[in-house]
Amino acid sequence: MSDPETSFDSAHFRQVMGHFPTGVTIITGMAGDTPAGFTIGSFTSVSLDPPLVGFLPQTTSDTWAAMAPSAKFCVNVLSAAQGAACWRFAKKGVDDRFADVTWHPGVTGSPILDEAIAWMDCEVEDVHTMGDHYFVLGRVLEMSHSADDPQPLLFYRGKLGGYSLHE
Ligand SMILES: Cc1cc2nc3c(=O)[nH]c(=O)nc-3n(C[C@H](O)[C@H](O)[C@H](O)COP(=O)(O)O)c2cc1C
Repeated sequence: MSDPETSFDSAHFRQVMGHFPTGVTIITGMAGDTPAGFTIGSFTSVSLDPPLVGFLPQTTSDTWAAMAPSAKFCVNVLSAAQGAACWRFAKKGVDDRFADVTWHPGVTGSPILDEAIAWMDCEVEDVHTMGDHYFVLGRVLEMSHSADDPQPLLFYRGKLGGYSLHE
């Protein structure tokens, strides 16, 4: 274990944080006329009334830089069947991340992925810089979830998996 007074081991920090399992989202938006999106695990609900949610993109994210001027985004919660999309939307410099996904525009114009198990279409309320990430706070304008037994995609210790009920 490293001494926080004298050094900070980023790789170790990443490894420790990897023990906290998360769901996986693709945050979508429009970069001008072009759909944009990236894989985000740092999604959280923030407030019930008003309905606020948030996520943390890296300050170096090309996708956030392209989407930010529209001040809108849609959170798509991925299903267990969307593992390939999770990796593709996380790869820097991929030309057409949307090549293999079907989607339709939400009320904000942001893409709603047809295979998502839940989605929240949002307008940006606030953006704060926090270290090497932004915290993006959004107000939920419209939302929905899948009707039948949805199976979420989960991320844990650098790998994807699925959900099973505790006995
Ligand atoms: C499961 C998973 C969760 C991720 N969560 C985040 C996140 O919360 N914040 C972030 O900035 N990047 C996250 N990433 C990495 C981004 O998807 C990736 O850095 C980004 O899409 C790179 O392309 P861009 O420069 O076009 O944004 C995650 C990647 C994966 C696979």
